[in-house]
Amino acid sequence: MDLKERITTAKQKQGEDELELTLRPKHFKDFIGQKKVTENLKVYIEAAKMRNEPLDHVLFYGPPGLGKTTLAGIIANELGVDLRITSGPAIERAADLAAILTNLNDSDVLFIDEIHRLNRTVEEVLYSAMEDYALDIIIGKGPSARSIRLDLAKFTLIGATTRAGSLSAPLRDRFGVISKFDMYTVEELMQIIKRSAEILNVKIDEASLKELAKRSRGTPRVANRLLKRVRDFSQVKGDGIIDINITEKTLKALGIDKEGLEDLDREILTVIIERFNGGPVGIDSIAAAIGEERVTIEDVYEPFLIQSGFLHRTQKGRMVSEHAYKHLGIPIKKDEEQLSF
Ligand SMILES: Nc1ncnc2c1ncn2[C@@H]1O[C@H](COP(=O)(O)OP(=O)(O)O)[C@@H](O)[C@H]1O
Ligand SMILES: [Mg+2]
Repeated sequence: MDLKERITTAKQKQGEDELELTLRPKHFKDFIGQKKVTENLKVYIEAAKMRNEPLDHVLFYGPPGLGKTTLAGIIANELGVDLRITSGPAIERAADLAAILTNLNDSDVLFIDEIHRLNRTVEEVLYSAMEDYALDIIIGKGPSARSIRLDLAKFTLIGATTRAGSLSAPLRDRFGVISKFDMYTVEELMQIIKRSAEILNVKIDEASLKELAKRSRGTPRVANRLLKRVRDFSQVKGDGIIDINITEKTLKALGIDKEGLEDLDREILTVIIERFNGGPVGIDSIAAAIGEERVTIEDVYEPFLIQSGFLHRTQKGRMVSEHAYKHLGIPIKKDEEQLSF
């Protein structure tokens, strides 16, 4: 295993499918938080069912691990229809998409993850599919080529993306419902961990629930992963019951600090302070300095650093906050003081 591999990455890790499947809520009642998103959706779902029509196309956006795929599954479940899951990069050619679309039945849900990564030609096929439930197919070549229209089932597209800004306007405009996922509160994460512990059949005390929730970066996927790690520790080094002692030890062993930051988070902040005077500095310079890809920093690391007030995004670039200096124990230099928040 790569030693630098992050325990708190919000991206799904290899071999994690099984865990996610057992812990993934299947009904609204088990889906904790995101009330703004779910309350509206419940109404739309009811209305669609009453009218016997497909649900409007839905776009979910927000950082990884917040429940976009989970909610798509719940929607299909509540509608009582089949769910077909694919992703932007997996659909390489227009014919691939056509094959998927022609296999759908009325009201079925097609879930396209990372929809911002669809290529142009595929995306264009999607326009008429979303708008008119039809496919325009060109038959033949040259002067004898003609276009025929193929009717599709009245399906619902649910798209998910970590970056709504990367979606083209024509695609975005074809979604009737656009919902943003927010990071979860500590209380919500406590409920999620509690539920997961029950499913995994492990005992955990209240203090541990709270500590794990606080260090999960507002992200259910991270919360579940931490729970699994503490469970391992409690079985090997304790008596199988998760108490605050085992929890603190595990978090320490994993290098996760009081604020839920890991080595790489601290490295990002430290680099900005030491190499760029605390900022403002462009994202590309940060990426080069720590040897990570820009998109990874933007999608995975930065949202939590911003959310918890360590980093600010300004027009001139990223700036670390006073909070970050304090947390890292680095004194603020005099001339930097006016610049920082
Ligand atoms: N609101 C929620 N309530 C309970 N568990 C959740 C919730 N959102 C996500 N999870 C858990 O987190 C895991 C990751 O969620 P997922 O839907 O795959 O995130 P995304 O698709 O946004 O990356 C799921 O397997 C599920 O167990
Ligand atoms: Mg997902």
